[in-house]
Amino acid sequence: MSRAPRSSEASSTTRGEPPAFDLVLFGGTGDLAMRKLLPALYRRFADQQLSPRGRIIGVARSDIGRSTYVTKAEAACRLHLGAAFDAKQWSAFAGLIDYVRVDATIAADYGALASTLGSRAEALRLFFLSTAPDLFAAICRELAAAGIVTPDARIMLEKPLGEDAASAERINDIVGAMVGERQIYRIDHYLGKETVQNLLALRFGNTLFEPLWRRGQVQHVQITVGEQLGVEGRGDFYDRTGALRDMVQNHLLQLLCILAMEPPANSAADAVRDEKLKVLRALRPIGDAEALLKTVRGQYRAGLVGSAKVPGYLDEPGVSAGSRTETFVAIKAEIDTWRWAGVPFYLRTGKRLQEHLAEIVVTFHEVPHSIFDGPFSAQTPNRLVIRLQPDEHITLRILAKSPGEAMRLRPVDLALDLGESFKARPLDAYERLLGDAIHGNLTLFMRRDEVDAAWRWIDPIRAAWAADGTEPRVYPAGTWGPATANALIARDGFAWHDEE
Ligand code: BG6
Repeated sequence: MSRAPRSSEASSTTRGEPPAFDLVLFGGTGDLAMRKLLPALYRRFADQQLSPRGRIIGVARSDIGRSTYVTKAEAACRLHLGAAFDAKQWSAFAGLIDYVRVDATIAADYGALASTLGSRAEALRLFFLSTAPDLFAAICRELAAAGIVTPDARIMLEKPLGEDAASAERINDIVGAMVGERQIYRIDHYLGKETVQNLLALRFGNTLFEPLWRRGQVQHVQITVGEQLGVEGRGDFYDRTGALRDMVQNHLLQLLCILAMEPPANSAADAVRDEKLKVLRALRPIGDAEALLKTVRGQYRAGLVGSAKVPGYLDEPGVSAGSRTETFVAIKAEIDTWRWAGVPFYLRTGKRLQEHLAEIVVTFHEVPHSIFDGPFSAQTPNRLVIRLQPDEHITLRILAKSPGEAMRLRPVDLALDLGESFKARPLDAYERLLGDAIHGNLTLFMRRDEVDAAWRWIDPIRAAWAADGTEPRVYPAGTWGPATANALIARDGFAWHDEE
C-alpha cells in the first residue's frame, strides 16, 4: 500500500532519515512489551529503520534498575525472535533502552520520568499506554501535570478501549483533552498484519475484483479467527471481557470494514477511515428480538487440542465459578448499503478451537445454469480465500476440467503464496504499527468515531444476551464451537468453510 500523503497529517515526518524519538512504554515490564513491542523495536532497529538517536524508556511499578530491565528485555527478545536475534545488534540496540520506576497513580513518580526525558527538542515524544485501561486516566492526568507532553507528542493506546460505548467515550475524552485526535494512535494490531494490507492491495490495486465485489456476485462472506490457545493466564481479564468484546468489537469488525468498504479516494488516513466508518454505521443493529437468531455464544469444556488435554474454561485460574462469559461467538452480520444489501457476513471467533486459523472467505454465486454433468458442476461456486494466519496466502477456487475422456469438472485452486512470491520477510504487526506511529502515519489506526460506532453495534448484542438469561452453549475444546454455530449458517443454506 502506498504511504499516505503527509500534507494532511499533523506533525508528520517523511520516510527517509528515521526521526529521533523518545518512546515511553507504560506497562514496560508487561506481557505485550516483552512478547511483542521490544522484539518489534529490535527488528526495526536491526533493519535500520529506527534512528540510533531514539530512546525506549520502559516504565513500570517494579523497583528494578536499568540493567535488570535490559537483561529481562534481552531474554524476551532471544526467546521470541529465535534465529533473528543477533547478539552484536542487540548490544547496539540495548544502548537505546532505559527504565524508570513509576507508579502510574502517584504524581511524585513522574518527576523521575521528566528528568530522564530531559529536553531533547529534536526528539519526537511518544507515550505507549499498554496498561489496564483503568489507568489511562491517571496516566494522562499526571503526564499533563508533569508538563512532559510536548505539543506534537503522540499517544499510542493498546486495546481494550473501554468495555462499552460509554467507557470508551470516557477514555477518549480524557486522552482527547491532552492531545488532538491526530496525535492519538489507537491500535488494532490486526490492521498491522501484512495480509490485511494485502486485502487493500487486492481490492484497490487491481480492477479484477471490483466489479464482482457486491451483491449480485457475492453470495456470502465468512470471517473466522480461530485460536487453539485458551485464556493463557489472563482468566481474570478475559472473564470480565469475553470473546465479543475481546475479538469481535475490534479485530473482526476491522476486517469486515476493510473487506466491505467503498474504494477510498486515496490512501490517506482519513480517506480510508471515513470509508470504514460508513460500514460500521451501516451495520444492521442486532437487538433483543434478533439476537437469538443471529448470534451464538459458546464456552469451552475440557477437551483435546491437537494431542494436548486441556481443562475447561470454568477450571481456568481467574475465572469465576459458574461464569457465563463467552469464549466463542458466531454472528450473522448484515450491511445495509446498496453494495451489500442481502449479503450475509458470518463472523466467528473463539478460544480452544480445532485450529489456529484466521481467514476471510468470499463465496460467489453459483452458475445460473450448468451445462455439465457431475457432482461439482452446479453447486461449487467460485470462492476467494484470504488466509491471514498461520500462513499468508490467497486462493481462488475455480472449476476446471479433470483430465480424461469425460467432461467432468473439479474444483482447483489458483493459489498465491505471498511468502513464496516475494521471498521477503513480512513485518510483524507491531513492527509496522510502531514504525507508522513514529513516522506519523495514522492509516492503520482507529479513529475515535470508528471505535464508538463499533461499540454501538456491540452493546445491544450484549444487552440482548444479558436479557435472555440463557447460558452460553458448551463445546469441547478442540472443536469448531457449539453445534448451534453450524445451525446459524445452515439455516441460510451454507456451511462453514472448514466443514465442507
Ligand atoms: C488480542 C486478544 O487482541 O488478540 C487475545 O486480546 C487474542 O485474546 C489475540 O489471543 C489474537 O491475536 P493474534 O494476532 O495472535 O491472532
